Amino acid sequence: MVPEGASAAAAMLVAGHIAFRETAVTGSARGPLCLMGVCFDCLAEIDGIANRQACMVTATPGMRIDRQHGARSARP
Ligand code: FES
Repeated sequence: MVPEGASAAAAMLVAGHIAFRETAVTGSARGPLCLMGVCFDCLAEIDGIANRQACMVTATPGMRIDRQHGARSARP
């Protein structure tokens, strides 16, 4: 649970998730750094759509946020 208007990244952090994705090349864990749309380290799969900046998406009730593994598929 997060306050209204909080980001998906905030919801993930509140839930205790620090790593949001793994890099495509080395598989290194990455988590949000800037929380303002600059670093892209918060990429996650949100409601089935990969490569979304979790810090720029407002959390909504029932939203599904999944950790992203490697590069996203070229297919939608
Ligand atoms: S945390 Fe840097 S772009 Fe989202």
